[in-house]
Amino acid sequence: MAAVPAANQAGLLLKVQEAIKAGLPDKALADTVKSEVSHAMGADSEPDSLKEMHDGIVYKFLVNGEWRKSTSGRTISNLTPYDETICYEVQACTREEIDEAYATAHAAQRVWAKTPIWKRAELLHKAATVLRQYAALIATPVLREVGKNRKSAYDEVVRTAELLDFAAEEGVRINGEVMSSDAWVGQKRNKLAIVERVPVGVVLCIPPFNYPINLCGSKIGPALIAGNAVVVKTPTQGAVSTLHLGAAFKIAGAPPGLVNVVTGKGSEIGDYLVQHPGANLISFTGGATGIDVSKKAGMVPLQMELGGKDACIVLPDADLELASTAIVKGGFSYSGQRCTAVKIVFATAEIADALLEKVLAKLAKLTIGHPEENADITAVINKKSADYIESLVMDAESKGATLTTPYKRVGNLIHPLIIDHVKENMKLHWEEPFGPVLPFVRVGDAAEAVALANKSSMGLQGCVFTQDINRAILVANELAAGTIQINGPPARGPDHFPFTGFKDSGIGAQGIKYSIESMSKVKSFVINLPEAAHPQGH
Ligand code: G3H
Repeated sequence: MAAVPAANQAGLLLKVQEAIKAGLPDKALADTVKSEVSHAMGADSEPDSLKEMHDGIVYKFLVNGEWRKSTSGRTISNLTPYDETICYEVQACTREEIDEAYATAHAAQRVWAKTPIWKRAELLHKAATVLRQYAALIATPVLREVGKNRKSAYDEVVRTAELLDFAAEEGVRINGEVMSSDAWVGQKRNKLAIVERVPVGVVLCIPPFNYPINLCGSKIGPALIAGNAVVVKTPTQGAVSTLHLGAAFKIAGAPPGLVNVVTGKGSEIGDYLVQHPGANLISFTGGATGIDVSKKAGMVPLQMELGGKDACIVLPDADLELASTAIVKGGFSYSGQRCTAVKIVFATAEIADALLEKVLAKLAKLTIGHPEENADITAVINKKSADYIESLVMDAESKGATLTTPYKRVGNLIHPLIIDHVKENMKLHWEEPFGPVLPFVRVGDAAEAVALANKSSMGLQGCVFTQDINRAILVANELAAGTIQINGPPARGPDHFPFTGFKDSGIGAQGIKYSIESMSKVKSFVINLPEAAHPQGH
């Protein structure tokens, strides 16, 4: 192992001294030292292809294959969720720069659409290789900007590499079809339609903060393999992570303009981007802002995922060990900041106490702390979010709900909490906390649980726990959501599965094959023959 560069040694020493002073247990201390050493080494081993993205903590945006600083001369400060210190500065792009991103994307797309699919696939595979090669380096901004623990940040990068590989393989197998006229009553077989899938043009990709690499890869991969170019608008917190995905495509040899990544505040450039005539499709993942985007977008196809209030229904015959594990994993992974998190538990009266006891025992084992320590529960994205979560807790408590453990918050770090006896008059029953706080509702039976779950304005996923598969199917049929998990927590992956939201949770389908279909359109060529023609098989 090479030595830690001299320039980083002082910082490393300081961190270790701080850790000792803080009285960290041996294992945590060892992990901190390991992580600081790897960061110090990583900073030095950054390849030139990534170094060109930034001057210190100031990151550039990507347009026409070049890393540039904005002519606005302004940057936006990006704070860490855990100590709210500035970790990065990103460019506040101008409208002219957005115009240029769309123009260059359209020019590149015209060539890309004529590029053989196997070559498009090659680019995706190369970008996947780059992600794997620099996974540890690319995971670092995910940890810093969005506070994901190191393991989850690393896993996100690798998951994205797998997604790009799969998209490449899926894309080369997507074919059109031939249709004949004689299926229609009274017609003869003198017309043949050759139906092909063609690119839509330029896809505007707007990923969220919670998966700034993976939920951008899930847009770029299918878009490119279908023959489109992309303009990506990064989330503000998460921008540097998303820029690294752009870098992976640049390093992989993407033609200039095929992948453009712009940064800036949604409040300043969001409307301009979504109403731009250069956008031929918008793929958005995020919160309720998406409803506003859909109203402003006009005549362009939309692929949207706007969150969920995913219900977990536990029936009297459920395996409570399985259900409690799923509730803790589903409700508290990445501190509950997942659109597919379990957002409300409906427990039937017979098993409610026993289930809660198991859930609380498992919850007590979660580690709480810093993402570098690989803690299970880390600070939520920012103060605004922490304040919102707190307001939901206070509202529920003031209306008679039971906090199963005392509410505890340090800065943006909210300790995991189950709130029992939540009722319909409490905001927590309906709203998405997007944090480590989970409402527990006691119901008489499955029908009551389904009725309450279906009153939500959202319908992303849901789950039902029972050992009676017939009953599970009946309950799942009644739940108004895009995916119902039977005996497992809600989750998007594996990423080739369809991912759809009903009601306010979304428009259109995702999942690799479904995204390729959403990001292409049908074009037909009809051959009119002078007489009926029937190909013979012998
Ligand atoms: O936050 C929204 C994501 O699509 C959830 O993905 O189920 O893999 O955590 P996940």
